[in-house]
Amino acid sequence: MTNRFSAMNFEIITERLNLSMWEESDASWYRELVGERGVAKPTLEAAYKKVISFRERALESGISLLTIRRKDEGDFIGYCGLIIGRSTIEEPEIAYELFQRAHGNGYATEAASAIIEAAVATGRRRLWSTVRSWNNASFRVLEKIGFIRHHSIWDENGELVWNMRDL
Ligand SMILES: CC(C)(COP(=O)(O)OP(=O)(O)OC[C@H]1O[C@@H](n2cnc3c(N)ncnc32)[C@H](O)[C@@H]1OP(=O)(O)O)[C@@H](O)C(=O)NCCC(=O)NCCS
Repeated sequence: MTNRFSAMNFEIITERLNLSMWEESDASWYRELVGERGVAKPTLEAAYKKVISFRERALESGISLLTIRRKDEGDFIGYCGLIIGRSTIEEPEIAYELFQRAHGNGYATEAASAIIEAAVATGRRRLWSTVRSWNNASFRVLEKIGFIRHHSIWDENGELVWNMRDL
């Protein structure tokens, strides 16, 4: 896939966090993180394939989710980044998911703020984020980084809110 935007920075350092491209060894962390959603934990092989697909898609599209590690502790706490998701390569979605043990420390906000800067640097003008209407923590993160609620759609899982931020 080619597009008119610069590739996103895949290695980002913030005050407390290191955001990086996925390594194959992150598969076990990805597996644990998905397990916290309350759905079946993927096999290690499936998680490994997912990580490989993240890397391939990053090369093809120039955008990616990035792993988040705390600088001081060096531990993997989740991911944040840009994906096409339900939107487009021109106006991608910002997405984030952190281990429960890391919630409530401002980490998602810190990582997402850095991803917005990285999105600006690619030349993009607008980002989206689609969030289920019950997900107040996610709405609060989006509010803190300047998103506004734009519109809702309804599907088999209920209300899905489209949030938008002009860059
Ligand atoms: C959404 C998520 C990434 C937030 O991570 P986090 O590191 O805890 O976020 P931050 O600490 O940066 O900010 C969270 C904000 O939400 C608030 N918050 C947390 N739970 C809340 C709730 N149930 N209702 C309202 N606000 C809530 C916090 O108080 C904080 O706001 P504040 O700084 O004004 O106090 C995390 O909850 C998560 O991984 N959830 C599961 C995955 C997910 O839902 N991803 C998004 C899919 S759209």
